[in-house]
Order: sequence, then C-alpha cells, then structure tokens
Amino acid sequence: MRSGAGQLELRVYPDPCLRVVTEPVTEFDDRLTGTIRGMADIMYLNQGIGLAAPQVGIGKRILVIDTGEGLTAYINPEIVECSKDKSAMEEGCLSLPGVSVNVKRPVRVKFKAQNEKGDFFCGEFEALEAKVFQHEFDHLNGRLLIDYMNPIVRFSASKKIARRKREAKCSTRK
Ligand code: CO
Repeated sequence: MRSGAGQLELRVYPDPCLRVVTEPVTEFDDRLTGTIRGMADIMYLNQGIGLAAPQVGIGKRILVIDTGEGLTAYINPEIVECSKDKSAMEEGCLSLPGVSVNVKRPVRVKFKAQNEKGDFFCGEFEALEAKVFQHEFDHLNGRLLIDYMNPIVRFSASKKIARRKREAKCSTRK
C-alpha cells in the first residue's frame, strides 16, 4: 500500500473514515485543487481507476475517476437517473485489499456534478464507467463493497483483510 501527496494517506478497512457520510464541498479554492491532485496521485500509485475522498480520510463529496480516458474530478456528484437494466460485475476497492465482490448495478446512469472551479456539468455513463461511478458514489455515503456481500462471506472477507493488514505491518518492519 503506497501513499502520496504529503499528508494524504490511503485508508483501509476498517478505518472509520470509510463509514462517514460526507459533506458537500462549498469552497472551490486552491485547497480543493490540492486535494484532487493528491487523490489522483494516490489512485495512480495504487493502479486504481477511481477514488473517493473518504478513502484518503476527507469527509467531503469529491471523486476522481480515470478509466483510461483521462482524469476527471466530480465535486458534489449526484446520480439523477439509473437504467432499469442491471448487470453484475466483479469489483475491487483500494480500501479493501484482496477482496472482490460480484455487484449487480444499473448498466447506465445519468449524473450531474461540479468541476474544481464549481461549474456544473452533467453526462451519462454506461458499462465500466457507470459501475465505477456508482462504486465511488457509494463511498460518499459510507457504503462499501462488503455491504453487498451476504453476512457469512462478509465475515470471512473482513478476517482476510485483517490478516493482510498484519502481514503488511510485519513486512514494513524489516
Ligand atoms: Co472503493
């Protein structure tokens, strides 16, 4: 697990930051730009395609996503419409290392958000981008992949994460 951008650090389950219901961004200033840059650094360092602010310990409604089309930041994002048709996809999460969950979600979503200057924009996603957007959006409401698991699978997954955390600690000690 690598961190970047000075003080920002990737938070791993069961860090309580991951369960926070985040607050809207109201100041579109240099600090916000710095946060976005720091989040992007951490996402790329860890080979992620999306990251939400709670994953770096910030309780604000900020997402960064790059599914291969370049980096976009979504401030105060909202999902305004979901398709009725859903599909399942195997999802992972940087905050849940070693865990993957088959999650059924709408195939297409319409969204609106603000950019880092505060300007509103909207659009529509489908397929992978729609899944990533919904996954990251869940983070803003404290919702994690493991919430989509049945309780028994969730129990063994959280034990697996705890074990990996212990192993990671051992390996950084040398
Ligand atoms: Co995630």
